[in-house]
Amino acid sequence: MTSSLDDIGNAQEAAKRNLWLHFTRMSGYADSDVPVIVRGSGAYVFDQHGRRYLDGLSGLFVSQVGHGRQEIAEAGARQAGELAYFPLWSYAHPKAIELAQRLADLAPGDLNRVFFTTSGSEAVESAWKLAKQYFKLTGQPERYKVISRDIAYHGSSMGALAITGLADIKYPFEPLTPGGVRVPNTNFYRAPAFVRDDLEAFGIWAADEIERAILREGPKSVAAVFLEPVQNSGGCFPPPPGYFQRVREICDRYGVLLVSDEVICAFGRLGYYFGAERYGYQPDIITFAKGVTSGYAPLGGMLVSDTLMEPFSSGTATFLHGITFAGHPVSAAVALANLDIFEKENLLGNVRANEAAFRATLEKLCDLPIVGEVRGAGYFYGIELVKDKATRETFDDDESERLLRGFLSNAVFDAGLPCRCDDRGDPVVQLAPPLICGQEHFDEMEHILRAVLTEAWARI
Ligand SMILES: Cc1ncc(COP(=O)(O)O)c(C=O)c1O
Repeated sequence: MTSSLDDIGNAQEAAKRNLWLHFTRMSGYADSDVPVIVRGSGAYVFDQHGRRYLDGLSGLFVSQVGHGRQEIAEAGARQAGELAYFPLWSYAHPKAIELAQRLADLAPGDLNRVFFTTSGSEAVESAWKLAKQYFKLTGQPERYKVISRDIAYHGSSMGALAITGLADIKYPFEPLTPGGVRVPNTNFYRAPAFVRDDLEAFGIWAADEIERAILREGPKSVAAVFLEPVQNSGGCFPPPPGYFQRVREICDRYGVLLVSDEVICAFGRLGYYFGAERYGYQPDIITFAKGVTSGYAPLGGMLVSDTLMEPFSSGTATFLHGITFAGHPVSAAVALANLDIFEKENLLGNVRANEAAFRATLEKLCDLPIVGEVRGAGYFYGIELVKDKATRETFDDDESERLLRGFLSNAVFDAGLPCRCDDRGDPVVQLAPPLICGQEHFDEMEHILRAVLTEAWARI
């Protein structure tokens, strides 16, 4: 028998009985309610009890323009009424064409071809598949390996997972797609002793580790390097000055493609349409998703250069890859309306004007004994938690379990600030609010985190 889910008790029961939450320890809800978010407005979302929360992570690095934007909802509804679906397999539809052209105009350099997907993982898989087929078509069939960084997250499907650098989420699914190779990330807070005091030297060392990996693996076997402009997992590691320039040189030297995985960093998160622009490098492929629609409908994709397209633009060669819902008309219409808001409200300008104030507000937390470092860029920050500030000693596994899963994740949510408390590297709290936020939101975040982190410290 069905029951009205308007009744809060019924919704809880059905959520626990029928719904499987992603990357979630379901037993954690045995004795507590599953949080149910029912609506959003601006930078805030509301639960089934009417309680308000500041959306500290833009959902999942998604809601750039904030919630409740009627003009985006209406653009999607209009498109569904006109043409709800037609595939991008052999056909085009107007909104996919218009969006591809608009993204090509926004993208850096010669990236002017868009292959749509529905998600970030599919974008990453598509980039790897393109790299493999491109090299097969251009007489280098042995190039298939991909290099990425320790602890980096590049998606959860089998191919993307082979690029992801998080052992714990790979292990249950091994063996994975062969060819994933790992190099150090740009976590300067945990840099090796010999470069600990020199950010630039650290960046050169980290970039050169990519060259060493290429040489170790065999330069003719490596197809691509996948890097985020600012690495999310581990807690927002910005690139040291010169890092990406050095990586570009290395990729060019060995004929390896540079993929900028911008599933999080594109569409204003760093104050630019694409993170590669902010750090002044030219990728061969950009992968994107999330913020391109601000979450009003799912969409992802990759932007590629003419050079990569070249073997496919004449003769019989076809990129043998496709996804039914990729570039869905409703999602494409929604993305265009989303980008209209970016322009009308100068959201990139808002991030650039306010990012220093955001950082400074979060840095006030550095007076707490548990806060080791605040790092990041744009509207994308990580706060690393430590047991000892002076020695940078981190928490052991038991302490992390108690601190993050046992206390912090629920405590920040209960205090009205859903954000990420993560120990996939060292323990961090991550913030990535909607790009419409300003000082009053930064103050609210600082205020909530100060109370919660103070209590966390008292519990250790
Ligand atoms: C850098 C990066 N790449 C890929 C992905 C996978 O995206 P999706 O969850 O849309 O498949 C993510 C997701 O967070 C990501 O952060």
